[in-house]
Amino acid sequence: MAGQVEGKIALVTGGASGIGEAIVELFAREGATVVATDIDELRGPELAKRVTKAGGNAIFLEQDVTSEERWIEIVAEIAKRYGRLDIMVANAGIGIAVPSITDMTLSDWHKQNAINLDGVFLSVKHCLPLMRKHGSGSIIMMSSLAGLRGAPGLAAYSLTKGGVRLFAKSIAMECAAAGDGIRVNSVHPGIIDTPIWGKIPTGASGAGQNAPIDPEERAKVATPLGRAGQAAEIASGVLYLASDASRYVTGTELVIDGGMNAGGVPRRA
Ligand SMILES: NC(=O)c1ccc[n+]([C@@H]2O[C@H](COP(=O)([O-])OP(=O)(O)OC[C@H]3O[C@@H](n4cnc5c(N)ncnc54)[C@H](O)[C@@H]3O)[C@@H](O)[C@H]2O)c1
Repeated sequence: MAGQVEGKIALVTGGASGIGEAIVELFAREGATVVATDIDELRGPELAKRVTKAGGNAIFLEQDVTSEERWIEIVAEIAKRYGRLDIMVANAGIGIAVPSITDMTLSDWHKQNAINLDGVFLSVKHCLPLMRKHGSGSIIMMSSLAGLRGAPGLAAYSLTKGGVRLFAKSIAMECAAAGDGIRVNSVHPGIIDTPIWGKIPTGASGAGQNAPIDPEERAKVATPLGRAGQAAEIASGVLYLASDASRYVTGTELVIDGGMNAGGVPRRA
């Protein structure tokens, strides 16, 4: 049986870890040729090797999503190798937490915005022209539950994810108006058990100190389904948006959060 994204060329940013890694693996299993990019030059090549060994098609290219120069090179490389791009997942992101917004330094504010917003803008600016050449495609932007609801201590992160949510809708409308066959949607994970929780800097400066947050502990209390989500559970939603199964879906937001956005339930003993 043909895979759900058989024969498609897909780019996944932040593809070396967590949700991105799960997307790369799932897309490859479902028949896509996947270009995984990331700043992580250790995990990225290992992932591409693992996927290839399992019979899939994946390559790794080092990329900092905040560099416009590198975006130009990445898209040129994809055009040269494959001549097209069908799926683009703007997934790379970081979270910087502070006790209060008054503790946030301007440089951390800029860093948060540079990766989570500038990176997404550049992904669309540079990938869209290549995607448009074939008259169809799917862009998926990784937002967050924090892009739908306030997140104390993560106000800057929340701002970026709220921005991504409306950016996706606006680009969806631009593409629809252009009749270019490209669909654009955002995905909103709740608390997902990935390495990001161990990387959230929580010092007053937003840098330096690193007190890892246990997503499972947090999710037990905050999530109606009573557990953290797995990266693969986000990847399956992304696969739906990438595949032709969602061909009538654009400008929407797919919330995958164990019920958090719907409300609260009394905690089980
Ligand atoms: N894990 C969660 O609970 C959760 C919840 C909501 C949204 N998200 C979002 O999902 C996305 C993936 O997060 P994750 O949980 O898999 O985290 P992760 O830390 O496991 O993966 C993020 C990847 O992005 C890469 N990255 C960071 N800065 C980069 C840059 N400048 N250029 C290129 N790559 C860069 C990292 O090296 C890493 O491989 C992020 O956008 C995150 O905000 C995660």
